[in-house]
Amino acid sequence: MTENDFLPGSYGTLPQSGKVTWKAPSNIALVKYWGKRANQIPANPSISFTLDASATTTSVTYQKKEKETSDFSFDILLDGEPKADFKPKIKTFFERIEKYVPFLKSYDFTIETSNSFPHSSGIASSASGMAALALCLMDIEQKVAAEMGNDFFTKKASFLARLGSGSACRSIEGDLIQWGAHESIPESSDLFGIKYPFAVDSVFKNFHDTILLVHKGQKQVSSTVGHDLMHDHPFALKRFEQAHHNLDQLQGVFSNGDLEGFMALVESEALTLHAMMMTSRPSFILMKPDTLEIINKIWAYRAETKVPVCFTLDAGANVHVLYPESVKEQAIQFIQDELVAHCENGHYICDRIGNGARKLQ
Ligand code: PMV
Repeated sequence: MTENDFLPGSYGTLPQSGKVTWKAPSNIALVKYWGKRANQIPANPSISFTLDASATTTSVTYQKKEKETSDFSFDILLDGEPKADFKPKIKTFFERIEKYVPFLKSYDFTIETSNSFPHSSGIASSASGMAALALCLMDIEQKVAAEMGNDFFTKKASFLARLGSGSACRSIEGDLIQWGAHESIPESSDLFGIKYPFAVDSVFKNFHDTILLVHKGQKQVSSTVGHDLMHDHPFALKRFEQAHHNLDQLQGVFSNGDLEGFMALVESEALTLHAMMMTSRPSFILMKPDTLEIINKIWAYRAETKVPVCFTLDAGANVHVLYPESVKEQAIQFIQDELVAHCENGHYICDRIGNGARKLQ
């Protein structure tokens, strides 16, 4: 598919007013997306577990304008409070997607959003937030566009979400989502995420992700700046190649239920992401001393007990502790005994693989 496939045909009569609500989950990348080209095209393919508990719920109320104006008209509320500082990001998103959903300037919108995780948890809400908003807009489009199949609805929601925040395109469906063109993954695309098309052993089906909140403050360097620094990065090309290779490796890992291979690959991906940050010009470090303490404790625990517990990181100091359902009790015990002490105010979130976004009535 190309971008043009997402341009709508003619619309029927636009409804006067209405309200739609969607809940979309966050996701955690196993092979990381880091570096992008124009129009939110990823420099390399990635894959993620869709999460379950960490999610954003967004309602969009739409009221037809008396007369169409040349501006977007929207109010945005977080937990019921007006949130003016979200406006520029939403405006940029609307500008990017307007040609694909051209009804945007016909309405006054009220966007009400809330996250299941605390706002200041250091967990990025951009993936779940942009996914939930994209789904609300698709829901409105579905009311006015000609017949639209579920598959197209999902693909276009992912396509729009990507234009809000790249990784958001992996937050529409579950439970394992791949994004970015890859030679050996049929149907893979730079434009939207797809369900991972190959066999996945049941050991990976009920995976847990306990998110240790090491640092809840604002990140010193945003993802946008980080992606940009991959442009003149000395290791960029090698890194992009490696991501393709790691996706190939994962195929065997998933189909064979190879936990050892999984842990080695996922941890290497996490540390490579941070190595790219540390070797950018200017360089930056998002890990904190407690991030490293946790990593070392996980390695020591695994060496000693052989319990398959591993970690991954996103673009921040928090640690995602990953483990299969079969070792849940031991893993939680270990986390409580040894790792929670490294979390800010002892806070952590128990999450697991989820099935994707859903519409709320
Ligand atoms: O979607 P963005 O622009 O916030 O970038 C996300 C990048 C990582 O979380 C670090 C990796 C990923 O693939 O999600």
